[in-house]
Amino acid sequence: MNDDPVLITGATGFLGGFLAGELVRRGKRTFLAAGPQAGAVDRIRRLLEFLDVTPKYSPKVFSSDITKPGLGLCPEDARALDTIREVIHCAALTSFSHRERARLEAVNIDGTANILDAVPACRRFYHMSTAYVAGKASGTCMEEPVSTRCFNNHYEATKKKAEDVAMHVCQGRNIDLTIFRPSITCGDSRTGRSTRFNALYYPVRVMLFLRDTIRKDILERDGSRAYSLGASMDPSGRVRLPVSLPGAGRINVIPVNYLVQAVIAVMESGATGIFHLVNPRENTVGELASFTEDFYGITGISISRELEADGPLQALVNSYMKVYYPYFCDGRSFDRKRSDRVLLNEGLVCPSLNREVFKVCMDFAIEMDWGARTEF
Ligand SMILES: NC(=O)c1ccc[n+]([C@@H]2O[C@H](COP(=O)([O-])OP(=O)(O)OC[C@H]3O[C@@H](n4cnc5c(N)ncnc54)[C@H](OP(=O)(O)O)[C@@H]3O)[C@@H](O)[C@H]2O)c1
Repeated sequence: MNDDPVLITGATGFLGGFLAGELVRRGKRTFLAAGPQAGAVDRIRRLLEFLDVTPKYSPKVFSSDITKPGLGLCPEDARALDTIREVIHCAALTSFSHRERARLEAVNIDGTANILDAVPACRRFYHMSTAYVAGKASGTCMEEPVSTRCFNNHYEATKKKAEDVAMHVCQGRNIDLTIFRPSITCGDSRTGRSTRFNALYYPVRVMLFLRDTIRKDILERDGSRAYSLGASMDPSGRVRLPVSLPGAGRINVIPVNYLVQAVIAVMESGATGIFHLVNPRENTVGELASFTEDFYGITGISISRELEADGPLQALVNSYMKVYYPYFCDGRSFDRKRSDRVLLNEGLVCPSLNREVFKVCMDFAIEMDWGARTEF
């Protein structure tokens, strides 16, 4: 790794935080851009503590608002960026909510342009995108620019446009561009450590919430509400939740420790272009549902080809989870020839999301109260 300092945006976020932590651990000089809220220095200090990182060089830390030209920086911080030649851009809004359309555009699209403007000497731009810029495209998604205009949500659409912005600006300014497209990212496969618990975690959290609600109704009241929903509890305390999940597809999940190693390996290789950071071994929804049942005292979850809408319990589950259903029904695969050429050469193999990894990740999420204890 070269000695140039690197600017990491979104350093208080999940992927940006883990990447920042590893680069700081390795002694890389870093400029860490937190989001707009106050207390950036304290937030990064707590994050590095959480990641067990003792910095060799103290990172330069500042708050930023990438929706603003100049990132809303004070003149001193803005001048400090004049020396930066390398940027890892992880700041983004990852909401699937329709209400967030305007903010998704401002952060993901305008924010990408503003970052590139704010770093005039940038020579190397690493852009954190997502495998799901493929939108509703079917078949095999290639490691190349996407042309689709059909997306499952506005998040995907803005991430595609952000790639376009990065490609356009970098080409015009002769900046070397590398685009990373990770699939769904979970915690560290060895420890479960993570700072965010959405995507893979959210459906499990919903099931555990329903399990606890049913148990409470049966143990502390007369259980009439639970029974009216068709739920029950056996003598060992296992809760039967008669719900169905649409599960025609496969879910692609990579652990964050693999993502960090893969990003750094691609950076060190000097390779430019688009890299899918995806798992060659995908999971079925049925597999993930059975892990949830086995580890967390639940029975009764069934997998259907189509979305079921029968009954109030099913309606409740659908209302919580419907934004994720397109991903439950995902029949695509992600080509990874370019990534494999770099990563397999480095001996990097993505850990499977097997029973053990699933359990260590979910147990950690529960210990962290689904993120209430990892707010940095
Ligand atoms: N997590 C995944 O499973 C996954 C999978 C594939 C791709 N990705 C991509 O990876 C990137 C990072 O995702 P993530 O999961 O790490 O997201 P995250 O945890 O929500 O982190 C987002 C980061 O962006 C910062 N940010 C948000 N709005 C900002 C603004 N206006 N100005 C400056 N900074 C702002 C946040 O700051 P605060 O901390 O102050 O809010 C935070 O540091 C995204 O581009 C996402 O599309 C993520």
